[in-house]
Amino acid sequence: MSKLVILVSGGGSNLQSILDAVATGKIQAQVAAVIADRDCYGLERARKAGVPAYLIDRKLHRSDLSEEIAKLIPFDCDLIVLAGFLSILNVKFIQKWPNKIINIHPSLLPKHGGAGMWGLKVHQSALDAGDNESGCTVHYVSEEIDGGAIIAQHAVAIAADDSAESLQQKVLHFEHQLLVAVIAKLLA
Ligand code: GRF
Repeated sequence: MSKLVILVSGGGSNLQSILDAVATGKIQAQVAAVIADRDCYGLERARKAGVPAYLIDRKLHRSDLSEEIAKLIPFDCDLIVLAGFLSILNVKFIQKWPNKIINIHPSLLPKHGGAGMWGLKVHQSALDAGDNESGCTVHYVSEEIDGGAIIAQHAVAIAADDSAESLQQKVLHFEHQLLVAVIAKLLA
């Protein structure tokens, strides 16, 4: 059985989509651990699903956050998924798991990505640019923030009356589908 580890920092709706897909067999894997860099509802979702949940507080582990997280990842982990994870993993961590770390970003990268581009800021950036579409991207994690090889994307039309909030909700819906589909395919 393939092993997944999920890293979170927030509400965990992407995590929940993965947990649900594992429960229904859409993803043939077990979630070995959920790791958060701050106290967040994602940890509660893990606990409710009976998955080991760990908090490695980014404020307590400024310089060794990556090392502390690495200790919790099984040696035979098949895929590490950043599902709304906001801390930056160091090069040593990334190089330890080549092509085994993926991230979901709420824009059509390379547009509206990079340092500081998370949450509503991403969607406001798309609106401010006058784009007529946005969407979501699943990509491999590299040393360049949001710069790793793109695995899959899904485009979402931007309506004239969309706000950053309404666009975020539209995109999030498709994030859940895209992330589950990519994980299922990578582990098949
Ligand atoms: C999602 O929009 C994801 O694309 C971004 O952070 C958000 C996490 O949302 N990286 P959730 O915690 O999965 O609900």
